[in-house]
Amino acid sequence: MLKIPTFKNLDKAGKKQKYKRIAVLTSGGDAPGMNAAIRAVARAAIAHDCEAMGVQRGYSGLLEGLIHPMGPSSVANIIQRGGTVLRTSRCKEFLTKSGRKKGYENLCKQGVDALVVIGGDGSFRGAKLLHEETGLAVIGVPGTIDNDIAGTEDTIGFDTAVNTGVQLIDKIRDTASSHDRVFLVEVMGRHSGMIALYTGIGGGAESIIVPEVDVTVDSICETIDRGVRRGKTSSIIVVAEGCKFGGAAPLAKALEKRGHASHFTILGHTQRGGSPSAHDRMLASTLGSVAVHALLGGVKEGMVGVKGNEVVINSFSKLGKNPTLLPKEFFKIAKDLAV
Ligand code: F6P
Repeated sequence: MLKIPTFKNLDKAGKKQKYKRIAVLTSGGDAPGMNAAIRAVARAAIAHDCEAMGVQRGYSGLLEGLIHPMGPSSVANIIQRGGTVLRTSRCKEFLTKSGRKKGYENLCKQGVDALVVIGGDGSFRGAKLLHEETGLAVIGVPGTIDNDIAGTEDTIGFDTAVNTGVQLIDKIRDTASSHDRVFLVEVMGRHSGMIALYTGIGGGAESIIVPEVDVTVDSICETIDRGVRRGKTSSIIVVAEGCKFGGAAPLAKALEKRGHASHFTILGHTQRGGSPSAHDRMLASTLGSVAVHALLGGVKEGMVGVKGNEVVINSFSKLGKNPTLLPKEFFKIAKDLAV
């Protein structure tokens, strides 16, 4: 069970912070559970006598002034939906100071005095600068299927993406074993192998290939051969899209050259869609609510996240670069379980 901070002592003046309008936006790649987080932010704000505002299309919409009020019923029936009802974008203009100034002015025009950004680390770099340059209170909520954000051990969407991946691997295993085939399954993760690791272990893969761990084609062939020697007639190899081979397609070619004909399937954006798991709904509802409580408790900037079984909040400046969070000891487990 997650332990939730109270923020009782965070306001030095000993007063609760008052905000008139708290806006929320989603930014970067969508992730299942973002809608649950939007709902939580809007409803928590309203429950504490603030008005809730939604920004359409992330930072792009902020620059275009696409900001509208959200009542409690405007977020009804979205907790179970994938994607983001606010829509999202990756916005180059927000990387510039003038872009951020424009965004801030649009928020001021609508009377918004605090912002919650649901997204990944790129989105939080923008959030940090927006706060530093304007003084606007900005809280981040980690939403990405990649689970690769410093300052949190879990991100909204990761659990659903892994479950989607595992379900699809189960289907591929049926055909792989019926035809005695080697199948490469490419999962998302340009810079992080976290999805590959969890879907690989959860899907019972023979090998898991990720950007963070160096492997050779020879060692992959050796794993396949070892399986054959032990009587295995089919193999599943989970490949993160960002691995050094450039994904499942080039790796399949390289394996074929070594005499290992293989098929490959790219799961791609299927992992980004679909109804969020109960875990992601719970996480999103908790982090979205805590983001609002943090604002009202006097926190001016930072990202809410999970450490151990506690919800924590870290200043954006402490988040740093994408760390290599991959727990490597799990690869030993995966190897043992693939004998
Ligand atoms: O960050 C989430 C993610 O889905 C990554 O796993 C993937 O590499 C990337 O986004 C794909 O982004 P886009 O949909 O913009 O191509």
